[in-house]
Amino acid sequence: MKIAVIGSGYVGLVAGAGFSDFGNHVTCVDIDPSRIERLRRGEIPFHEPGLSDLVQRNARQGRLAFTTDTAEAVRDTEVVFLAVGTPSLPDGSADLRYVLDAARQVGRGLTGYTVIVNKSTVPVGTGDLVKKTVAEVTTQPFTVASNPEFLKEGDAINDFLKPARVILGADDPQAIDILRRLYSGFLRTSDRIQVMDLRSAELTKYAANAMLATRISFMNELAALADKLGADIEKVRKGVGSDPRIGNKFLFPGVGFGGSCFPKDLRALRDMGRANDIRLGIIESTVDANERSKRAFGARVIERLGGSLADKRIAVWGLAFKPETDDIREAPALDVIAQLRAAGASVAGYDPIAGDNVRALLGDAIALVDDPYAAAEGADAIVLITEWHQLRQPDFVRLRKLVRTPLLFDGRNVWDPVAAHRAGFEYHGIGRPRPEP
Ligand SMILES: NC(=O)c1ccc[n+]([C@@H]2O[C@H](COP(=O)([O-])OP(=O)(O)OC[C@H]3O[C@@H](n4cnc5c(N)ncnc54)[C@H](O)[C@@H]3O)[C@@H](O)[C@H]2O)c1
Repeated sequence: MKIAVIGSGYVGLVAGAGFSDFGNHVTCVDIDPSRIERLRRGEIPFHEPGLSDLVQRNARQGRLAFTTDTAEAVRDTEVVFLAVGTPSLPDGSADLRYVLDAARQVGRGLTGYTVIVNKSTVPVGTGDLVKKTVAEVTTQPFTVASNPEFLKEGDAINDFLKPARVILGADDPQAIDILRRLYSGFLRTSDRIQVMDLRSAELTKYAANAMLATRISFMNELAALADKLGADIEKVRKGVGSDPRIGNKFLFPGVGFGGSCFPKDLRALRDMGRANDIRLGIIESTVDANERSKRAFGARVIERLGGSLADKRIAVWGLAFKPETDDIREAPALDVIAQLRAAGASVAGYDPIAGDNVRALLGDAIALVDDPYAAAEGADAIVLITEWHQLRQPDFVRLRKLVRTPLLFDGRNVWDPVAAHRAGFEYHGIGRPRPEP
């Protein structure tokens, strides 16, 4: 099949490379010429495990191409995916500018019947807006479908090539047939396609993200309570997670969630509720609880160090919004760093791969080092925000010799409190009792 993918970011590039790997001819489009130049040279503009090999192999074999020219890319294609960003506007609603611009550009380039598939996360009703936008600029026949993407950064290829389900929203049987054919290679073991109407498909994506984020905020609130009551949230987590009705995923308490999806999608969902006079109280609370979690974590560090961090040096370990990505969009580390700096701290940050993105954003506001132990030198606290594998079992004895003040703040409950304590550290986790002195 001949396919175009509009937007060569995390979703578009993974989808484009994934579809081409199954023998389709894919052209990935982006409005950013430097991104397209880099992709043509075989360079991936962000970190995603396995993506480089997948892109290079398919490009070499002539199934994957890159361009800035949307009309050229969509000429004679059967399917065009929209995978552009849908960031938040200041009021929290989704900014549809990129989706509608892309739709217009696609519409102008259509040469025959085409299925235009929205993969971006968009508010319910956007499919209809896309239809209207395309119809204004073409007389060619087309169908607009929704195919929300559920991949997670850091494991995106696996998620894309082995999806738990493929949601297809469209009311045109011909479009559904074409998309079924496209996805059939991915779904050999079982048919995991769910066909529904456009609006239900659009809402399903928000519902999934909101449910996952709510579980996290729920556990974070309980962790705060456990802290006061002297209970151990890690034991509670295992206790509730072993109930098959609940399951053990997305129950990890921590400093709070971030990233390019949960925060903006929850805000957009909240906005959809408000615009339709439906109070989404749980969603609003989830957003508020997340803000409180992040602030409470930073506040604990500040309070423990006496209320002011003037002359204090804090090592922040892990800056990406989660492990295995260099994405720092709405990364909790950025909020915590801002809070620590506002209290007067100098911050030394370490991340295995997100350092360049943080430098581009914060300049020299923090010292970025390429070794976690270097960050800890002379520190008054080590703060773990992102639980990269290589940060999970540090050499506490070595660290104790490097720091000025032996304080650990484990924002992901991954360190062994007893080992840390034995090495001479005062350990603070999230909702976990501290070992007795
Ligand atoms: N990142 C994720 O993990 C993830 C997962 C599921 C769904 N989504 C959703 O998918 C969408 C894309 O997310 P992303 O993280 O890939 O975004 P991204 O910012 O990484 O990539 C978007 C790309 O689209 C390009 N673009 C914008 N307008 C364009 C146009 N008119 N023509 C061509 N290219 C254009 C941008 O230059 C950018 O490179 C969003 O709606 C997001 O919510 C993201």
